[in-house]
Amino acid sequence: MRAPVEHRLEDYQSPAFAIDDVHLLFQLDPVATRVTSTLAMRRQRAEEPLQLNLENLVVESVALDGIELGESAWRIEDGRLIIEDVPERFTLRIRNRINPKENTALEGLYLSSGNFCTQCEAEGFRRITPFLDRPDVLATYTVRIEADKSAYPVLLSNGNLIEQGDLPDGQHYALWHDPWKKPCYLFALVAGDLQFIEDHYTTAGERDVTLRIYVEPHNIDRCEFAMQALKRAMRWDEERFGLSYDLDVFNIVAVDDFNMGAMENKSLNIFNSKYILARPETATDTDYEGIESVVAHEYFHNWTGNRVTCRDWFQLTLKEGLTVFRDQEFTADMLLPSIKRIQDVIHLRRYQFPEDAGPMAHPIQPKSYIKMDNFYTMTVYEKGAEVVRIYQTLLGREGFRKGMDLYFQRHDGQAVTVDDFRQAMADANGVDLSSMRAWYDQPGTPHVKVRRHYDADSQRLTLDLTQSLPKVGEGFTPLPIPIRLGLLDASGNPLPLVVGGEELGMEYVHLFDTRHQQLVLEQVPEGAVPALLRDFSAPVILETDLDDAEWALLAAHDPDDFLRWDALNTLALKALMEAVTAIERGEAPAWPQTYLDAVGVRLQAALEDPAWHALALTLPDEVTLGEQFETIAVEAIHQARKALQSELAQRFEVQWASIYDTLSAELDQPYTFNAEQYGKRSLRTLALHYLVQTGKAKWIEQALYHYQHANNMTDRFGALRALTGVEHAARKTALDDFYYRFRNDPLVIDKWFALQAGSDHPHTLEHVRMLTRHPDFTYTNPNRVRSLLGVFGQNRAAFHRADGSGYVFLADEILKVDKLNPQIAARLLSPFTQWRRFDTARQALMKAQLERILQVPSLSSNSYEIVEKSLT
Ligand code: PHE
Ligand code: ZN
Repeated sequence: MRAPVEHRLEDYQSPAFAIDDVHLLFQLDPVATRVTSTLAMRRQRAEEPLQLNLENLVVESVALDGIELGESAWRIEDGRLIIEDVPERFTLRIRNRINPKENTALEGLYLSSGNFCTQCEAEGFRRITPFLDRPDVLATYTVRIEADKSAYPVLLSNGNLIEQGDLPDGQHYALWHDPWKKPCYLFALVAGDLQFIEDHYTTAGERDVTLRIYVEPHNIDRCEFAMQALKRAMRWDEERFGLSYDLDVFNIVAVDDFNMGAMENKSLNIFNSKYILARPETATDTDYEGIESVVAHEYFHNWTGNRVTCRDWFQLTLKEGLTVFRDQEFTADMLLPSIKRIQDVIHLRRYQFPEDAGPMAHPIQPKSYIKMDNFYTMTVYEKGAEVVRIYQTLLGREGFRKGMDLYFQRHDGQAVTVDDFRQAMADANGVDLSSMRAWYDQPGTPHVKVRRHYDADSQRLTLDLTQSLPKVGEGFTPLPIPIRLGLLDASGNPLPLVVGGEELGMEYVHLFDTRHQQLVLEQVPEGAVPALLRDFSAPVILETDLDDAEWALLAAHDPDDFLRWDALNTLALKALMEAVTAIERGEAPAWPQTYLDAVGVRLQAALEDPAWHALALTLPDEVTLGEQFETIAVEAIHQARKALQSELAQRFEVQWASIYDTLSAELDQPYTFNAEQYGKRSLRTLALHYLVQTGKAKWIEQALYHYQHANNMTDRFGALRALTGVEHAARKTALDDFYYRFRNDPLVIDKWFALQAGSDHPHTLEHVRMLTRHPDFTYTNPNRVRSLLGVFGQNRAAFHRADGSGYVFLADEILKVDKLNPQIAARLLSPFTQWRRFDTARQALMKAQLERILQVPSLSSNSYEIVEKSLT
């Protein structure tokens, strides 16, 4: 077996050499690109040999201070180019060759639709040329690109265009210079047949910035929204954080083949086209929202990531947690703050909580890894963002801003650690934040248990708080958990909070930072209900002793939009959990009246706030429901959720129909992506879903009509989704129509694949198997693979079929992908990592597939790490 190298945080050593300046020459050719790299280097530690990382490239020559080195003066060993003898300061010139066309891993220099592009984070630069491929080596870059002029009219790299011109034999060149020092993971190059749209932004300091978005010519009419989103992000970062852009050009390029969402390369962001291209006819509201937030996210990295970068990859959350937090705050301001917060919490519970409870659980600052690619996780990103949010909750917006200012003042131009960030937050506010370290060092979602004791005579309500961290166990270090709380009287009116004789207002943040604590609220009348964890003030699982009536009170009256949503969601979860137990006992589920009444009340008021009600009336998903149980009962959970859906559909058919009609009249206008229309469309689509769930032919026909007459993708796709779950001729009619209508549009065809892979149709596995042979399916495009195989793996009923055929199918497919693109294969493995959560029969079937995968001799180290860690 292979012996994969584990990288450990505790082994960190500063680099033995500095690279101050980099000159690169690219002579582009699809199968044999020549790279000449000239590095101005400086020794920082005595005696050590020079060791440059390299991967998948052929070194042709090495010269030191202009003198060609003989083959004996350098060697290649374990992915390193080693030169034993080098002076204090020297210039190294390396010539090497790479093959972009064969690069299906999409790291380093590769081709997408025939155009050259690069992806260097985390460790892709070493596939371009030998280098100190680590984020704490910062240099200025000058890049000359030479290529065939007719095939590659556009030549781009980081920074400013210095010079361009023609060369003999139909070639041309461009020379780019980036004045800002950067680590090599922020390097980028693009060459191809692209068109652009252009706009301008004037910064607060009166700098005129030229903004361009480059796409393939046929997509030129789909860039305007992304451009406007970019300008909104630039304005927002100046207003909220005083951060302005620092160059005269900002370029974005959209490519179809991309492993992730997008990449923040200095002044040359490269995007998965999914996060740029949009027209109302092809993109849904969700797509628009995603574009706005990813465009902003990458732009925000210019300060949080690029100007201040990471010392090593264990610090990834320093830039990602912080930048996600910033994009969340931005989207909240653009959309509706409460809606964005609820969406983010749903997402966290659905994806991050299971990760944090499973075998791949890691602290937001991981302590070791085999492949860094595997640590671009929900934990590092979204839980990391929650931890950043805790600073803001504790320090307030102004205090947080002071901390950010000091962070940039101290560390601009440096590669730093999460501790430097925390120290800046602490020093700027004159407080001790050392206990926050516990959030960076421990994996797992904390549990907060609350038990109440009410003493009517003294009018005191004692909250008995206990925290635990099951993933770590008894020896865990207590976490500083801010609990934002309020109090409602028995009729739902807000009450002031009094603690220790002091009036604290209607809401305050209690810092719960020990294992156990008692919080005594005074002057509390009988029947008052505490409202805990408003705005989801910490990423924890809250276990309270509130009963259904109290949750219903909160759902109806709490002033906090998040908590009202969470209260109704809790009632739904409790109802579903009881139903699961009933179904497992062979009984029919009985739905609690409190919950049904609460839904009835919400339906009455739904039109007053459609966006919020669309979220509140959507049932918890199967994964989140499964997380409530020790062992996930696949069928019972699926049935319980379906049963509740049809119960709500039938019981409230009249209300759903009336909501649907009212909103249909209000939405009879041209599509615009804005908060108001977004909310209305979401609620109308939800109503349609419930109506289709009644099983009545008239509603299925209505959905088909809705599908056919939609003037935008949100409505069309919403109706199509409602139809894919039903056994009716309309299903095939709509799916076929959708395919023929959009067959030339890859991003829409991704939706078509995803819809079928995620369907709860009983034959989904067969459909997906057939779809792998569809002419439009390809293993080399990550978006397509994710749409079919990624979505299938998340489909509880289909993937977890009791006979194990779903497991065998996905394992086979992952092995095919692993040969081409290890990063994507490793991500497809994630549903298998949860194997211990299922019944013993399924455990055995899933484990057998993991063991089979582990036996494959050519398995990538990406997949190896996931499989190996899941089995131990
Ligand atoms: N740094 C990118 C982001 O979050 C993500 C990314 C990581 C893209 C690795 C490609 C490769 O914005
Ligand atoms: Zn990022």
